[in-house]
Amino acid sequence: MEKKTFYITTPIYYPSGKPHIGHSYTTVASDAIARYKRMQGYDVMFLTGTDEHGLKIEQKAEEAGITPKEYVDKASQVFRDLWKLLNISNDRFIRTTDDYHVRGIQKIFRTLYEKGEIYKGKYEGWYCTPCESFWTETQLKDGKCPDCGREVKWTEEEAYFFRLSKYADRLLKLYEDHPEFIQPESRKNEMIAFIKQGLQDLCVSRTSFTWGVPVDFDPKHVVYVWIDALPNYITALGYGSDDESDFHKYWPADVHFVGKEIVRFHTIIWPAILMALGLPLPKQVYGHGWLLFGDGSKMSKSKGNVVDPYILCERYGVDAIRYFLLREIPFGSDGLFTNEALIQRINSDLANDLGNLLSRTTAMVQKYFGGHIPQEQEAGPEDAPLEEMGRALRQKCDEAIDKYQFSRTLEELWKFIARTNKYIDETMPWALGKDETKQARLASVMDHLCEALRLVSILLTPFMPETAPKIQAQLGLSPEDCTYARAEYGKFPAGCTVTKGETLFPRIDVEKEIAALNELIPTPDAETAQQEKVREELAGVAQIGIDDFAKVELRAAKIVNCEKIKRAKKLLKLTLDDGTGEARTVCSGIAPWYKPEDLIGKTVVVVANLAPAKLCGIESQGMILAADAGENDVKVVFLDGVPAGSKIR
Ligand code: MSP
Repeated sequence: MEKKTFYITTPIYYPSGKPHIGHSYTTVASDAIARYKRMQGYDVMFLTGTDEHGLKIEQKAEEAGITPKEYVDKASQVFRDLWKLLNISNDRFIRTTDDYHVRGIQKIFRTLYEKGEIYKGKYEGWYCTPCESFWTETQLKDGKCPDCGREVKWTEEEAYFFRLSKYADRLLKLYEDHPEFIQPESRKNEMIAFIKQGLQDLCVSRTSFTWGVPVDFDPKHVVYVWIDALPNYITALGYGSDDESDFHKYWPADVHFVGKEIVRFHTIIWPAILMALGLPLPKQVYGHGWLLFGDGSKMSKSKGNVVDPYILCERYGVDAIRYFLLREIPFGSDGLFTNEALIQRINSDLANDLGNLLSRTTAMVQKYFGGHIPQEQEAGPEDAPLEEMGRALRQKCDEAIDKYQFSRTLEELWKFIARTNKYIDETMPWALGKDETKQARLASVMDHLCEALRLVSILLTPFMPETAPKIQAQLGLSPEDCTYARAEYGKFPAGCTVTKGETLFPRIDVEKEIAALNELIPTPDAETAQQEKVREELAGVAQIGIDDFAKVELRAAKIVNCEKIKRAKKLLKLTLDDGTGEARTVCSGIAPWYKPEDLIGKTVVVVANLAPAKLCGIESQGMILAADAGENDVKVVFLDGVPAGSKIR
């Protein structure tokens, strides 16, 4: 009989930066599932890769003084190397610059065009260069990119469009008919709300840069990155090539693992493309939560913690990192990544609970029986609760894994480990060892301990693929004793030679270790990160001519009155003396940072020729300038000694 297949994917990562622990999170989680399913006997296809086209890469390569291809060749290799280090068992690694992918995308684009699903039009919209996204006026947040908060620019260009809007009803029906399609549940509601706001046709080509897949029938266009990226899940299986056998074998995917910020692309655009192509849809998109760092951000550049996966693996071992990532935070939720929490977990769960259980057990089997447990054994009253829990363990893990509940799976394993440790306290083998008449009972206790560890080691393999074989080696087990089919609590195999081996996880002195880690955090790090951020932002804005600047009429104005606006928490209503002799009213979103009384009498810069806008029923005649002065901090630009009405240029 043919094996059942299981196809799992990670996002294909942008190689424009170094991979960090956040990327490792999705990849390790996918790897654990891929390994678990293989262990269960599935024919697994596990795909990861890199998303290598787009303006950002083009710019990065230019900065580095190399071609985009040279840039991505190197950068993509960095991802591959990290996955190797982290013991990632991906079956394929796709690069969007691979020939077969490029040809696949061209074919998909052409097919959609020929079917009338893609048409040529003109794009007008607010464009965010760093995010490579177009936005409508209403999508902007405070006039800025709703995704990254940066400046957007009005842009017009000839472009191809995908008829996304016509899929709104089919997508809503998909979510209704297949409640499991978007997981966790809460993300589904966000997507429904997004669709109900109204779906626009999607711009799917660009003429503003060249580093992309050329539209083969209109080569001044390159395919927009998401349309290039999403179909990687099928081109990797040969879709659009001469050999589509893997596509027929593995598609539809059982699950796409993605971070929550790209659920929208995967549950709206991706299924719509597949519908347009007449292809089956993936069974599920799982949008996991974010690992958050010191400052609550998703980028691991923040100060205060060592988050470099290479350093962490070197100091604590790959399996400790894999364990922590999957254990600490429920997969669907956000959670804080801290070095303290990591070390705590290593000490309590790995060194104490698991490590000690193994070292105590192997030491006792050696001490009492020279490494060979006698077969003459005597059952005792303490056995039943342990056996009972052991017998239920595999099913519990299977159930949690089927729902991608990694932390729960590991929790079940650790509950059993704790129970086994308790069994030692209850049976008191050290007392049995002193009594000649209790040898058979002692043998049985050792047998139970080894059996519990055997079971744990099997179910732990997908999560800790280095540690599990180490446990099995110390217990003297053969590979046949450690199959999934044998992950049932029974009797420890007779004839094994148990030896006390190396300590699995040495205990870490928390204080010393944190101090050592702090040494590793270069203090200028935050500064460089900030500088890099500014550089990136500046690189992303288009240059303007002096004429453009001259269109903005900046004037000094004195605040003569200021009051809160009841209906809007963030707004203050300012009355300005702008030098005309007439009062000018301006509403400004600075209430969280300024009290009205602190502002009266101060001189500020006003954009005097901004078209008036109604804010909370008040007509605002311009805006005053303020700086984003840090994380959630705003500072108004004040002038000193400048008369109201002075022109600023
Ligand atoms: N190239 C796109 C994905 C295209 S998929 C067809 C992209 N790349 S990315 O490099 O930005 O990777 C984003 C993904 O990395 C997230 O969706 C998530 O899987 C992972 N993560 C990056 N930082 C993360 C955290 N801080 N926490 C959890 N996951 C994180 O988007």
